Amino acid sequence: MRDKRDYYYWEAKRVGYRSRAAFKLLQMNQTFKLIKRGDWVLDLGAAPGGWSQVAAELGAKVVAVDINEMEPIDGVIFIQGDITLPETIEKIKKVKEDFDVIISDAAPKISGIWTVDHLRSIDLALSSFSIAKSLLRDHGNFVVKVFQGEEIQNFFNELKPFFKFKKFHSPKASRKSSAEIYFIGKGFMKPKV
Ligand SMILES: C[S@@+](CC[C@H](N)C(=O)[O-])C[C@H]1O[C@@H](n2cnc3c(N)ncnc32)[C@H](O)[C@@H]1O
Repeated sequence: MRDKRDYYYWEAKRVGYRSRAAFKLLQMNQTFKLIKRGDWVLDLGAAPGGWSQVAAELGAKVVAVDINEMEPIDGVIFIQGDITLPETIEKIKKVKEDFDVIISDAAPKISGIWTVDHLRSIDLALSSFSIAKSLLRDHGNFVVKVFQGEEIQNFFNELKPFFKFKKFHSPKASRKSSAEIYFIGKGFMKPKV
């Protein structure tokens, strides 16, 4: 019998999504109502493009960023760049300076050493959050992936003052064996500058 992983893998192929990850965003959006028609969405760590496809289907205008190349998607503006570098933020700003929703599924290359992968993922997630602090509009929504580990509570504590609603969530489409979990933040309270 096929397990759940196979189900989402084959389902992604069947409906034309580039990744099974697309279903994670679909499920989180159904539960938390993150993206609506007309929103500007910034997708960080976007390749191969499953989340961007979903956001575009939901009627959003999407800017996608990845360190690697990504095949074009209709209606999605792609920027190749490293989200940990200030020059990438500058490139994004040239396209759009404020987003309704920022989503980040960015993940480090897996070393197989749990603590190393955990800390690298926390660093990437903090880079996404730093981009959110500058480019997410007041009351906007934010989703970011992290691999679980000892720093997870500190990470949550750092983000929580900035959102009215905040929680960690694991969508059904995440593999049971996966260390990943998503921080969901709604109602961003933009820091006054
Ligand atoms: C799990 S994949 C994203 C899958 C995507 N959400 C989808 O549905 O197709 C993680 C992505 O993060 C990207 N990434 C990792 N580090 C990055 C960085 N520093 N800057 C930009 N992208 C990065 C990787 O290149 C990879 O494409």
